[in-house]
Amino acid sequence: MQSGGAMIDSTLCQLWRNTHVSCFTDATGWGDIENAGIVTVGGTIAWVGSLAALPNDWITKITAEHDVGGGCITPALIDCHTHLVYGGNRAREFELRLQGASYEEIARAGGGIRSTVAATRAASDDELLNGALGRARSLMREGVTMIEIKSGYGLSLHDEARCLRVARRVAEQLPVAVSTTFLGAHAIPPEFDGRADDYIDAVCQWLPTLHAERLVDAVDVFCERIGFSAAQTRRVFEAARALSLPVKLHAEQLSDQGGAELAASFGALSCDHLEYVSEAGIVAMSRAKVVATVLPGAFYFLRERQLPPIEWFRKHGVAMALATDHNPGSSPTLSPLLMMNMACTLFRMTPEEAWRGFTVNAARALGASTERGQLRQGMRADFAVWNADHPRDLIYQFGHSPLRQWVCGGSAFDD
Ligand code: NIG
Ligand code: FE
Repeated sequence: MQSGGAMIDSTLCQLWRNTHVSCFTDATGWGDIENAGIVTVGGTIAWVGSLAALPNDWITKITAEHDVGGGCITPALIDCHTHLVYGGNRAREFELRLQGASYEEIARAGGGIRSTVAATRAASDDELLNGALGRARSLMREGVTMIEIKSGYGLSLHDEARCLRVARRVAEQLPVAVSTTFLGAHAIPPEFDGRADDYIDAVCQWLPTLHAERLVDAVDVFCERIGFSAAQTRRVFEAARALSLPVKLHAEQLSDQGGAELAASFGALSCDHLEYVSEAGIVAMSRAKVVATVLPGAFYFLRERQLPPIEWFRKHGVAMALATDHNPGSSPTLSPLLMMNMACTLFRMTPEEAWRGFTVNAARALGASTERGQLRQGMRADFAVWNADHPRDLIYQFGHSPLRQWVCGGSAFDD
């Protein structure tokens, strides 16, 4: 993982005051504090609590104050599943789907992911970078300070490396952290047509090279009948395990492939999509503490009917994360707030679950929960300041972002 932005003076002691804070520090509940204050020292949260209880010691040390004047503060958002680096777009495919073609039919006919692979290979590094920077800025305008970015539209060693380097450069150029995921096993590229197993061999061979260049924080596979089988997924996971890299999985999006059980047996960070996951798969995830990342953008945009089994996740105590899944084919959204609204309206998640999904559970899905996703002493000073009384207001409204300020590693940014 890499964090961008200027280094902040490590002695700078700042106070945000006059605000409602939702901390998400307990296993359930918002962790609300009225008339609250947050003290940061350098890039770390030093104190959070009711302003009336702010110790005198801190009051004397404060060098900068931010009066939030009735707004609210939440942990910064974490978008734990995106495909932010790609060329071209799929607006034409959207039209075709509206005329009756299905996502799977388009993919089988060589469109879909493959058409984005062609556009990505044809794009220059600068074109890819500028596209990704613009998308990252849109996410940041909704309070995001950490983004997971997958490769998966290069599908050759050369082009996967280019895309992962672009992802790293996003964190060098913007005040945002990026966690990279190698998704070489996203689709079969044209040069491997009909030779899926050979392609998996190639993906497994590329991984050590990409890892040696420090381009890979985690490894993912699209396990699906239009992607890769569970047996092929296992081979990629074994290659990841040989390098001690964590895995995650696009699992059971369009059909049940047993991907959740497989991912759980490898101690995956998360399984993502999961509309068709079985209860046995969820039990396996629960035992291995795998996060379920649900993706309402793809569900909505592909006009899916099969809902992810939220009730089973609750029953088996599986933590739920939420993400945009931003990609040109199945979820071209850049709005975490809209995803939270959709998680509630379409999936019947509670507003509190939706917020946990983009904060504390998203941090878990990226293996970053010791320093992100909650507001408490010792965590990174990453939070979002909103023109709203309470974070539930931000879910109930949709279509605009009332973000006032976002704070990344103790540095404050206004829109
Ligand atoms: O997460 N499911 C596979 N990958 C993406 C879609 C990729 C595409 O259609 O370009 C997803 O939905
Ligand atoms: Fe995805």
